[in-house]
Amino acid sequence: MYSEEDGLASLGFRIKRMMAKGLMELSAMPLIGRCCLRLAGALRGPYKDRRVLANLTSKPYISPKADIHCPRLVVGPHCFIDDYVTIYSHPDGGEVRLGEGVHIYRGTIIEVGRGGSVIIGDHTHIQSHCNIKGFLGSTIIGRNVQIAPHCGFSPYEHGFEDTSKAIREQDIISSGDIVLEDNVWLGLNVQVLDGVTIGEGTVVGAGAVVTKSLPPNSVAVGVPARVIRRRGEGGQAEARQDK
Ligand SMILES: CC(C)(COP(=O)(O)OP(=O)(O)OC[C@H]1O[C@@H](n2cnc3c(N)ncnc32)[C@H](O)[C@@H]1OP(=O)(O)O)[C@@H](O)C(=O)NCCC(=O)NCCS
Repeated sequence: MYSEEDGLASLGFRIKRMMAKGLMELSAMPLIGRCCLRLAGALRGPYKDRRVLANLTSKPYISPKADIHCPRLVVGPHCFIDDYVTIYSHPDGGEVRLGEGVHIYRGTIIEVGRGGSVIIGDHTHIQSHCNIKGFLGSTIIGRNVQIAPHCGFSPYEHGFEDTSKAIREQDIISSGDIVLEDNVWLGLNVQVLDGVTIGEGTVVGAGAVVTKSLPPNSVAVGVPARVIRRRGEGGQAEARQDK
C-alpha cells in the first residue's frame, strides 16, 4: 500500500533530483562551478551514489577533488570522474580523450608526455587505482571495456642495456601503442606492456602480465598471459559449480 510517508519520500527524492540537476547545469560556470559540484555531490551521497549526476544533464561529472592539469583533455558527455583521479600532461604530452559515458574511479592516474596520448572509448569503465600512461606510444582503449582495480598500461619501458649508466639516465623506448579493442574485460591487477593489442571481447584473468597480443574472444591468464580457451566454450559455468 502506498502511504503518505511514501508520498513524502518520493516528493523529497524528486526535489533533491531537481536541485542536483540545476546544480549540474551550473557546474561549468567560472567561480561557482566547483561549489555547485560539491553541493550536488553532497545531495547524492558518497562515492558511486554520485554517478547519477553524470546522467542528469549532458555535462560530465568531474569531481572538484580530481587533480586535472591537461590542456588537451576532451571529456565526453555523461562521463564520471571520481574524487582523487589525476589526469596530468607534461608539456610535450598528446591528448587525453574520454568518449561518452566513460567512468574513472578514485586513485586512477592518467599521465601523458613525449607525444603519447590516452584515448578511451564510449561507456568504458576504469575502476580504482589504475595507472594509464601515454609516453612515446599511446594507450588506446575501445568501447564498453571493463577494467578492474589496480591495472596498469605502459606503452614504453626504460632502456637498460648500457651498464655504465644509471637506468634512470637511459632513454625510454617503446615497441608501440597499447590497444584494447571493444568489450574487453581485464580482472584485478592486470599489467599490459608496450606494443600489445588485446582483441575484441577478450577476458584477461586477475594478476596477468600481458606481454604479447591476444586474439579476440579468448580467455587468457598468468604471467606471461597465455590463452587458455575461447569464450563460449563453457569453462566459466563448469568452474563455478566445482568451487
Ligand atoms: C580467468 C577467469 C575470468 C576465469 O576464467 P575461466 O575460463 O572460467 O577459468 P577457470 O576458472 O575454468 O580456470 C581455468 C584454469 O585457469 C586457472 N586460472 C583461472 N584464473 C586464473 C588467474 N587469474 N590466474 C592464473 N590462473 C588462473 C585455473 O586455476 C584453471 O587452471 P587448471 O586448469 O590448471 O585447474 C577468472 O579466474 C578471473 O581471473 N577473474 C577475474 C576476477 C576479478 O578480477 N574480478 C574483479 C571484478 S571487476
